[in-house]
Amino acid sequence: MCGIIGILGKAAAAPLLLDGLKRLEYRGYDSAGIATLVNGHIDRRRAEGKLANLDTLLQRDPLSGNTGIGHTRWATHGRPTERNAHPHATSRVAVVHNGIIENFQELREELEGLGHKFETETDTEIVAHLLTRYLDEQKTPEEAVAAALPRLHGAFSLAIIFAGRDGLMIGARRGSPLAIGYGDGEMYLGSDALALAPLTKRICYLQEDDWAVITADGAAIYNNGQAVTREIKQTALSGALIGKGNHRHFMMKEICEQPAVIGDTLQVFLNPLARTFELPNLPFDFAAVPKVTILGCGTAYLAGMVAKYWFEQVARLPVEIDVASEFRYRAAPMLEGGVTVVISQSGETADTLAALRYAREQGQHIVSVLNAPESTMARESDVVLPTMAGPEIGVASTKAFTTQLTVLACVVVAAARARGAIDHAREAELSTALLEVPARVAEVLNHDATIRDIALQVAEARDVLFLGRGTSYPIALEGALKLKEISYIHAEGYAAGEMKHGPIALIDEAVPVIVAAPSDELFDKTASNLQEVIARGGRVIFLSDADGLRKLGDKTFAAIELPKVDPFVAPILYAIPVQLLAYHTAVAKGTDVDQPRNLAKSVTVE
Ligand code: AGP
Repeated sequence: MCGIIGILGKAAAAPLLLDGLKRLEYRGYDSAGIATLVNGHIDRRRAEGKLANLDTLLQRDPLSGNTGIGHTRWATHGRPTERNAHPHATSRVAVVHNGIIENFQELREELEGLGHKFETETDTEIVAHLLTRYLDEQKTPEEAVAAALPRLHGAFSLAIIFAGRDGLMIGARRGSPLAIGYGDGEMYLGSDALALAPLTKRICYLQEDDWAVITADGAAIYNNGQAVTREIKQTALSGALIGKGNHRHFMMKEICEQPAVIGDTLQVFLNPLARTFELPNLPFDFAAVPKVTILGCGTAYLAGMVAKYWFEQVARLPVEIDVASEFRYRAAPMLEGGVTVVISQSGETADTLAALRYAREQGQHIVSVLNAPESTMARESDVVLPTMAGPEIGVASTKAFTTQLTVLACVVVAAARARGAIDHAREAELSTALLEVPARVAEVLNHDATIRDIALQVAEARDVLFLGRGTSYPIALEGALKLKEISYIHAEGYAAGEMKHGPIALIDEAVPVIVAAPSDELFDKTASNLQEVIARGGRVIFLSDADGLRKLGDKTFAAIELPKVDPFVAPILYAIPVQLLAYHTAVAKGTDVDQPRNLAKSVTVE
């Protein structure tokens, strides 16, 4: 997934494009580039690697021109080199693209047959050549775009400028988000409102298969050959560049923000005086819901795994869960009147969006748990339940995860009450347990130094295992994902009871085993698994409370004592030490904590 931006400005576009790309860098950082019209001609500056490299290049070799486009890349086709960096251009057209043109090879061969010479390995370059071919056939830019778009298969958001046409920019979207920004005599295009927030608050989101002809006077939007109108909204997003505060990395800043943002999220759904949970008016009654389907990717999916246990155990509601990339192709039959809960930090993940659309076609009520209330998923849901995490810049999801769990916990209790599965006394107990979570999380953060010391050992490992049972099992999976994605150490999360069915063969003194085990009803079972690991020389890093440490702490390589809490809220708490462990391990290894290799924050391609 990539970030794209376009400016039809009254002043030099390059500095504004670069600033906008800084807000989009979370979408990909393999390379970056901008193109502007200089005296009617297309001129480009592109650089491999981080955006800072493009900034340095522009300082050395500035680019003038008031009309321009910019791009920050997460490579799909073609290695992350300068040559493959967007914008891609011919002498007549420059284009930036987010998505995948699936039939690019066939189009490339056709155009090569017509004499076009390609310079890159990318799918995007065919868009520049296809448009050029139509312009060479005397089509206008608008006619060329209208002819080219139907020939492109796959997903794209595009921003296009044309040599000799300073007052013109064209944008198009299919499957990847694109917004138009309305300025004062200026116009903009951007992958999301965050990129445009410093320029304008007036935003219009293009819909599927929209394309827009943009001039200084505004935008003419078309869909399927017809002129259409799309609402111009006032975005609430701040234009302020998010800083790291006094933290070395965004990830640590965001880990430390969790007590506050969990509290902010609770305020949306929990009445602390009445000790009741209040959801926005739902277009259904949980008492009549036959089944809940939970969909998401990565960490968001793992939040859903925790919620599955909660829905089944507390609300007595049957639940199916699947990773969105599988679900979207399963053609799963879905029960009439069912509720599909979609979980996403960005609200733009392509697989999750596709799964949402399938569930909607199956007549499901769509409830989204999102950290982006102005995202595509938000616009396609029946109900949006917001996580109040604030912008999460670190690619590794932390505060988004624990606020997703917080929202899901509130939904589960509200559903349980609606279904008569719990009484108000239990609802009050659970509300008390949740209200205490911010303070308990703050206590866990005090173990940071201890966890940093343990991380020095983990950083030496080649393989790491995470174990848990019940709602600690998804936390084990999340701990493994965190460690993998930022330290590049191979890690696996496993249901503790599954160890004896194979993975225990991996155990020796070189394999750290992190065990999450609050002293709940499953503790003794997990304790047995822990003993099996120790008996084989495994180095156990034990996460539990005082009761658990009293029983087993002295048998383990290292132990972290967490506050004793109601088992219902334990997964929120136990996420913190695994986040910190991954963070400090990555720092010890010297990897790029906030922008790990090969990753991006929002995966808007399949
Ligand atoms: C989490 O640390 C990862 N960065 C990744 O798994 C992420 O959770 C996943 O891509 C889903 O993103 P979303 O929440 O924006 O949909």
